[in-house]
Amino acid sequence: MTTILIRNGRVIDPSCGKDAIADLFIEDGQIVGTPSLSPSTIIDAAGLWVVPGLIDVHVHLREPGAEHKETIETGTAAAAAGGFTTVIAMPNTTPCADNPDVLKMVMEKAASLGGTRVIQSCAITVGRRGEQVVDMAAIKKETGVFVFTDDGDGVESDAVMEDALCRAVPLCAILSQHSEFARISKKAALHEGEVSAVLKLAGQPVASEYEMVARDIALVKKTGGRLHVSHISSAEAIDAVRRAREEGLPVTAEVTPHHLHLTDDTVGEAGTMAKVAPPLRPLHHVEACRAALADGTIDVIATDHAPHTIADKAGSMEKASFGMVGLEIAVPMILALVKDNVLTPSRMIDAMSCAPARIFGIPGGTLAPGAAADITLIDPDDPFDIDPRTFRSKGINTPFAGYHATGRAVCTIVGGRIIYRTGRAAQTPGS
Ligand code: DOR
Repeated sequence: MTTILIRNGRVIDPSCGKDAIADLFIEDGQIVGTPSLSPSTIIDAAGLWVVPGLIDVHVHLREPGAEHKETIETGTAAAAAGGFTTVIAMPNTTPCADNPDVLKMVMEKAASLGGTRVIQSCAITVGRRGEQVVDMAAIKKETGVFVFTDDGDGVESDAVMEDALCRAVPLCAILSQHSEFARISKKAALHEGEVSAVLKLAGQPVASEYEMVARDIALVKKTGGRLHVSHISSAEAIDAVRRAREEGLPVTAEVTPHHLHLTDDTVGEAGTMAKVAPPLRPLHHVEACRAALADGTIDVIATDHAPHTIADKAGSMEKASFGMVGLEIAVPMILALVKDNVLTPSRMIDAMSCAPARIFGIPGGTLAPGAAADITLIDPDDPFDIDPRTFRSKGINTPFAGYHATGRAVCTIVGGRIIYRTGRAAQTPGS
């Protein structure tokens, strides 16, 4: 039986209001209050944060169908290096993850690798075509999956979205919506505003996001279904979520590290590397995302890790693929917000672990005795320059290349197994 002692770390566990220097014991894959055996492994965590394993509810693993961009193996290796113990994979694969065969294939393959845990989300509509809702009840029964999303596209039809929310109610399923009316956004390459005007490119109005969030909230009111707003990016949509929450509606939201840091000016500087859906927006939207994350209106931080090849990102703004990778830089990007006093350490860990577990019904998000030992160690002070060539992900598409960062995940433990260890967490105690 593996027994691990994580000694002298700053244990931050918002699930039970803990923030204190303490030891943590792991026996037989579980966290234990009092150890019964002497440890086989000791990790000296002095100066490190010891937190419940990070959970990323929005990741593109690209398998099946686009293994040249990412595979389950490279994507989960990137997740482990980023400190993530569980990820939810998006269903915009080929074939589409809209059926039990694909869902089970991904989850079984990930389980056989023994690294970061993977939950494969299911498309809301057959083929993500927005026309016919999948048989959610049968899918949940056969696979246990109850997270549905057409990510990459929003469900445009009111009737189809209403049908999906109605079906979700008895299943306690969650609909995670990519809020974008394509009829309004026209899938334009960037936000509609001064930058798009200067670059003489078509832009996406905020209305394409806001209108769908408002429509979905109205449908939640009508049906009682559970809505999670993916990668929220605009002040107007955030206000709509805030009002829904004040009314007590079952609506939650996530924001990405890039929407917390970058404005649409980045598109002028980094070009297609900054092309992402939803688009980067002007400063007041970034500030609204930060304020809403700090006050809890936005519950979750999720990366929307979207690996693409260099060829996919080459060429014109109009033709390049949407997306940027995020798994291996999320922790440093969010630590920067802690250092700037935008977030407290506890709020950071709640948004990256406890809230995802709570909202998506994922085991984890706690260091309470008896819980599975899914644990992340973070060195908050380790300085480094972001260099995509060091990524485990196949994707190196990020506008953050060359940024100077401080702090990162240094150890990732899943079910009591150390799946990633580096830096100060890799030093032998006493040496
Ligand atoms: O930028 C994005 N890329 N946003 C999405 O919603 C989809 C993703 C992808 O699949 O590349």
